[in-house]
Amino acid sequence: MCGIVGILGKSAVADKVVESLRRLEYRGYDSAGIATLENGHLEICRAEGKLRNLETKLDKHPLKGHAGIGHTRWATHGKPSERNAHPHGTKRVAVVHNGIIENFRELKEELKAAGVTFRSDTDTEVVAQLVDRELLSGKEPVAAVAAVLPRLKGAFALGFLFDGKTDLLIAARRGSPLAIGYGNGEMFLGSDAIALGPFTDRIAYLEEGDWAVLTREGAEIRDETGRIVERAVQKVPAGALLVDKGNHRHFMAKEIYEQPEVISHTFGHYLDLDTETVCLPELPFDPKEVQHISITACGTALYAGAVAEYWLERFGRVPVSTDIASEFRYRETPLAPGGVTIVISQSGETADTLASLRYAKECGQKVVAVVNVPTSTIAREADVVLPILAGPEIGVASTKAFTCQLATLACLSVAFGRAKGVLSADDEHKLVRAFMEVPRLMTEALKLSPEIEVLARTLAKARDVLYLGRGTNYPLSLEGALKLKEISYIHAEGYAGGELKHGPIALIDEKMPVVVIAPHDRIFDKTVSNMEEVAARGGKIILVTDPKGAEAAPVNAVQKLILPEMPATVCPMVYSIPVQLIAYHTAVIMGTDVDQPRNLAKSVTVE
Ligand code: F6R
Repeated sequence: MCGIVGILGKSAVADKVVESLRRLEYRGYDSAGIATLENGHLEICRAEGKLRNLETKLDKHPLKGHAGIGHTRWATHGKPSERNAHPHGTKRVAVVHNGIIENFRELKEELKAAGVTFRSDTDTEVVAQLVDRELLSGKEPVAAVAAVLPRLKGAFALGFLFDGKTDLLIAARRGSPLAIGYGNGEMFLGSDAIALGPFTDRIAYLEEGDWAVLTREGAEIRDETGRIVERAVQKVPAGALLVDKGNHRHFMAKEIYEQPEVISHTFGHYLDLDTETVCLPELPFDPKEVQHISITACGTALYAGAVAEYWLERFGRVPVSTDIASEFRYRETPLAPGGVTIVISQSGETADTLASLRYAKECGQKVVAVVNVPTSTIAREADVVLPILAGPEIGVASTKAFTCQLATLACLSVAFGRAKGVLSADDEHKLVRAFMEVPRLMTEALKLSPEIEVLARTLAKARDVLYLGRGTNYPLSLEGALKLKEISYIHAEGYAGGELKHGPIALIDEKMPVVVIAPHDRIFDKTVSNMEEVAARGGKIILVTDPKGAEAAPVNAVQKLILPEMPATVCPMVYSIPVQLIAYHTAVIMGTDVDQPRNLAKSVTVE
């Protein structure tokens, strides 16, 4: 969603605030703004569009204050415009906000009735106006914020800067993440520790309901009852704070190409190579006793879960249901005590996934969190965390997080298989050896890039693209379609191959490219029939397969992307590479904003 930043510095902070915002731009990028205290007085600069528009304005009219807050926005209430860009405020207070104030309408009505005039269409401005009224009534800033916070409903992170108070920032967290950075005689605030990477590696994370008063001396943190609390200051490893495209044109390309390396870290974490076994942290349940597993997540993370459903059912012989988190949280699915819920989230902050986790806990489930950000809310609230160790993912379209989620879930599935007695020790050794091959196979798959670039020229002309797959390649076809539509804006749909005849075949004509993801496995013949059906109607097939599949594919009208032969279990991880490259190259040809596609945000902390 939005990204917020605050700095109490030793010199002018505007450049640093902008630098931090650049690191948060993945959270939203439809407008940006900054407020600093110039000679003690609030000065605000805001611009519609990307951060560079704000920078252009600041070049013309620099802000010189030593204390500042900043914001990069993903619009929820009020269209993207300068008027609705943050910070919002009055003469006395400026506010930056991430999240949604759910009761803003009633608060706005109350304020309007009291004669307040609003200057934006946002929910955030009510917070500024409420605090302003408290200040006008004679309260000091800390007391004013303390009076307003209990009146706000919803999920939010807030940062406040006050006129005349050059050594004060106030921050509050409810539902949306906030990190506090400790410098030498300087203090920092950010939606994410990455934002603070250039300035400090000493970070404390506010917990749910916390609010903090920052001065250059440090931070006084209170919980929601107002009690002063300590939050551990952690040293965040430098790697976790690095945000750099390297030699790549886009973060997405960098993240696609680093998959062989990062997935080897993930496997390295969960595999014991000497004994060729899977080693997970201690689980708060005995997998042997588990009678049902529910998996819930959103978007790409959901598709990783849908792949794992096949693995868990096959290896663990345990029934699994995979569900969209925004449905799961409200459906009131009965969950028998003793069950396990797996929540999957790159950011660990997705609102619907977090709510699903809480629902599952209420139903007595043990919750396993598969996350990339180990300090995230989801990680903290789960019973056990399985970090995917993908490193910061900046491209809005998820790539390496997806494959590292798969790697983690594959290891968890093997652990279930072993505990349930379905997999023998020998089966486990074989699977572990297959997992160890994944980085090499991914490196081979990346060599298809030039071929895919040529293919993408045809895809870029298409209006619609269909993706087909069976078994674990069905969720991968959903992921392929999602990737293509989100970054190239070409309409795409993923289907299970067997569903083709039940409707989607009506769409096939000579203009319709169909990407078929089909290694030569036990159901390959069925997919051949699907390809015949497509070819008979003039559809253009792009077949992602292996040498045997390429030979056995009977139709002529097929362009083939050929990967090495590999065990079926590792296919979804390795086949992700061409699937991601298809979307990437098509988007580059289309000239879209690959890393920051329109209307999207990296971390969706609102419903
Ligand atoms: C798509 C994508 C999204 C996310 C989804 C969940 O490329 O990245 O679909 O997968 O918003 O986000 P997390 O994993 O942070 O919960």
